[in-house]
Amino acid sequence: MNQATAIAHTNIALIKYWGKANEELRLPYTDSLSLTLDEFFTQTTAIVNSEKEDIFILDNQLQTPEKSQRVFKFLDYFRKQYGINEHFKIESQNHVPNSAGLASSASAFAALSGALSKAVKLDTDLTELSRLARVGSGSASRSIFGGFVQWHAGTDNQSSYSEQLSTASESDISVVSVIINSDKKSISSTSGMILTKQTSPFYKLWPDIVKQDLTDIKQAIAVNDLSKIGEIAEHNAMEMHALTLSANPPFTYFEPATIKIINYVQELRKKGILAYYTIDAGPNVKIICSKKDAPLIKQKISDNLDEVIKVIITQPGPSITFK
Ligand code: PMV
Repeated sequence: MNQATAIAHTNIALIKYWGKANEELRLPYTDSLSLTLDEFFTQTTAIVNSEKEDIFILDNQLQTPEKSQRVFKFLDYFRKQYGINEHFKIESQNHVPNSAGLASSASAFAALSGALSKAVKLDTDLTELSRLARVGSGSASRSIFGGFVQWHAGTDNQSSYSEQLSTASESDISVVSVIINSDKKSISSTSGMILTKQTSPFYKLWPDIVKQDLTDIKQAIAVNDLSKIGEIAEHNAMEMHALTLSANPPFTYFEPATIKIINYVQELRKKGILAYYTIDAGPNVKIICSKKDAPLIKQKISDNLDEVIKVIITQPGPSITFK
């Protein structure tokens, strides 16, 4: 039987991707830069299905056609792009905590890209896999690689791919993920990006902001300057969230507890603990800190903030692997 299994990890953007130049190909408007995380990953097996239909099973549950839509659309793209006729049974396990509300589309589409390519024995290198994963979910392009990763925006399918800057094995970085209790449905990243790009008067500043932040953070990564990395990532995250606040109609991913955690991280810093926050398209907060401080920060957040339901310490994660 032709089948293959791949494991890919999630990533947290330190310089955010916010807005597309091309919706269909998911070409971003700017470059972005992330750190892959070890704790959260997706394991996916792609099996060539002689029944000539696509099937998607997530966490041992057969998904309805409606819930499979995004995966099926991706399988259609995969067949067209590489001239393949096969159909597939896709079995995915998400090792991203259920209650975490963390985006799993990055690890999901990265693992799916790897499993599919291997199942039909395509000779794709990791760069090509990052192009393929990008079409499933932009941030998935970065999840093909471990450590610090830059996604080059490019101008077409060929030139828009991710690249590993460093494995981060030398780095002292940890990321503490703080999960808050929330049942509010956030606006999707896709819709949020479109609205922001079309209506925020400040969006025109975004490309120059990213360019400068990227130059600065790459220098900080090269010399292992953790507080500089945190400082730039925190500022870049707030610049992204300022774009959503200035969209029309305005919106935000922050909830009251998000602001509380932000304030708490600032307090920790005043007490001399190296800690910086970053936030994606949801209310949870990720705290950038050193490996040695991570347990103390976890303890303090758990003890002092009632709204927090889970705190998870993560370290830099690896590139995609195959079983
Ligand atoms: O790739 P998407 O559609 O999940 O969008 C990711 C958007 C952010 O997480 C907010 C930023 C990023 O670069 O990951």
